[in-house]
Amino acid sequence: MNIAILTSGGDSSGMNPAIKKFVECCYEKNYTPYFIYDGLEGMIDGKIKKASYKDVAGIIYRGGTIIRSSRSKRWYEKKYRKIAYENLKNNKIDALIILGGDGSFRALDVFYDEFKIPFMGIPATIDNDIPLNEYTIGVDTALNVIREAVDDIRDTASSFSRAFVIETMGRECGYLALTSAVANGAEMCLIPEVKYNLDNLKKRYLDEIKNGRSYFLAIVAEGLNISYKIKEWFEKEIGFESRVTILGHIQRGGSPTVIERLRTAEFVKTALDNIEKNPDKIVTYYDDKFVLRDLKDIVNSKYELDENMLALAKKLMGI
Ligand code: F6P
Repeated sequence: MNIAILTSGGDSSGMNPAIKKFVECCYEKNYTPYFIYDGLEGMIDGKIKKASYKDVAGIIYRGGTIIRSSRSKRWYEKKYRKIAYENLKNNKIDALIILGGDGSFRALDVFYDEFKIPFMGIPATIDNDIPLNEYTIGVDTALNVIREAVDDIRDTASSFSRAFVIETMGRECGYLALTSAVANGAEMCLIPEVKYNLDNLKKRYLDEIKNGRSYFLAIVAEGLNISYKIKEWFEKEIGFESRVTILGHIQRGGSPTVIERLRTAEFVKTALDNIEKNPDKIVTYYDDKFVLRDLKDIVNSKYELDENMLALAKKLMGI
């Protein structure tokens, strides 16, 4: 059986260990591994090549993806998806492993409906916004990058009486902001999923200042697009000089953490153990287990943030 792997959408740390595990596992199972370079764009352009151990030597500790990725606009047009399908047939590819986020899974859903190419999907995005799934490859490394950045910002914030607004990635999903705010002891956490209350926060902050609070760390999700407004709010309403740090793409880099490397290996093994029996599934991580789910269930559901984490952060949202 010839199986091709591709990485699609925003890259995330852990994709490289997954690619390495994929090649090793294919050889163990007598499958022939192939790489599709440049994600869906590369499938359209026929960038398909047989992979060997040599290709994956020494990549386990590297962020990013050695087979590169893309966000394909051409994929929205059926004529390009047909070309992609023909490229798979010409290279005798029997099945696909796709690492990506919700956009990639939607792209896969359309492709499967049209051409029925067997596949296994593995959630990989720093956003952790895949429904019916609790962990996506890359989110742990991103959280650790944020932790380090917040620790560094705290050094300077605590040396002045200042408020720092730190903006995290995640598109419309507040997972990175929420988890980082709780893990790093921030005073404020604002995310798109929850209606925050600045008046309540103001009351609390003014009391805390009377009791000796001398700086603030506020974590704001990029999906709200209000980081500069919150900076002004701190200056006008709280009377604290304020600065904004947009963490940006550093959150997508970094050497994969131990958790990423271990879970990645299990994701890939589960995908390859099942690809012949269940050729249209997403491998999810749920309740500490790897669970196969129908792609349709994933694309037709909405992700939800963890209730316990939300409860821990309520105070930081003024509710
Ligand atoms: O989906 C991953 C992600 O990093 C989001 O958190 C962010 O909004 C987006 O990708 C940035 O996309 P790009 O790399 O295309 O600027």
